[in-house]
Amino acid sequence: MSYTSIEVRTEAEKVGVITLNRPKQLNALNDQLMDELGEALHIFDSDEGIGCIVLTGSEKAFAAGADIGAMAKFSFADAYKGDYISRNWETIRSIRKPVIAAVSGFALGGGCELAMMCDFIIAADNAKFGQPEIKLGVIPGAGGTQRLPRAVGKSKAMDMALTGRMMDAVEAERSGLVSRVVPLDKLQDEALGAALVISDFSRIAVMAAKESVNRAFESGLSDGVMFERRLFHALFATADQKEGMDAFVNKRKAVFTHL
Ligand code: HXC
Repeated sequence: MSYTSIEVRTEAEKVGVITLNRPKQLNALNDQLMDELGEALHIFDSDEGIGCIVLTGSEKAFAAGADIGAMAKFSFADAYKGDYISRNWETIRSIRKPVIAAVSGFALGGGCELAMMCDFIIAADNAKFGQPEIKLGVIPGAGGTQRLPRAVGKSKAMDMALTGRMMDAVEAERSGLVSRVVPLDKLQDEALGAALVISDFSRIAVMAAKESVNRAFESGLSDGVMFERRLFHALFATADQKEGMDAFVNKRKAVFTHL
């Protein structure tokens, strides 16, 4: 696949790796990049061989936000009618395979929002997260005011959105925004390692787990628990459940066929 703003490759033929690649602009997210990202996500999602996707950037920037130069002169009418910078932003939510964000450097504005749309974030120790839109006279526009409080609580989310300050990797891990922090030179190995672990599990169970955790953010507790229970029951219809439990009982390694 040839793209100009991103690079795509596969790892061990099981993991799809997407690297944001507009280094001069610190991976500022413009329409072209978002379109290419959406297309690459769909290709990996429908590739039977791929079990997990890793989304990453450069050492200096995961992404420094939506492209400010491109939107500076927009009127309300331009933004609203053209659905500018909203196009393809929700694509990542429709991806059924897990997407891990491997973040080093700046993840600001839309970059932080993009990372939060992934299923979990592994951060390098130089990562910096922030929603600095307030400094530009606007507010987050791709879910930041909704996902950040769910991740870190109201007080920290308000602090970030109202002051525009950045959060370093240690604070991000302490407050639950990221799942792991590793030295910068270990980031890619850590993310690929996690992705390879996931890829070897039952694809059906992995998708069900993702759907069910996401449900926690979109419904009340009793609805979510019922949704989880029904998916749990449904997994007893899969060959992978038979294989996984038989392997445990017979003290051998499970080999899943994703059926
Ligand atoms: C366009 C950007 C950019 C951005 C950086 N650049 N961020 N271009 N849009 N979001 C460009 C700079 O203009 C510069 O280009 C080059 O990248 C390097 O940036 P510097 O500022 O020189 O680097 P540095 O001094 O290291 O500072 C890094 C930085 C700073 C702290 C990340 O660039 C910065 O504050 N960027 C803006 C962050 C931001 O406000 N993001 C939110 C955007 S609004 P030249 O040509 O000068 O070399 C948003 C809304 C989302 O995201 C809504 C989604 C629907």
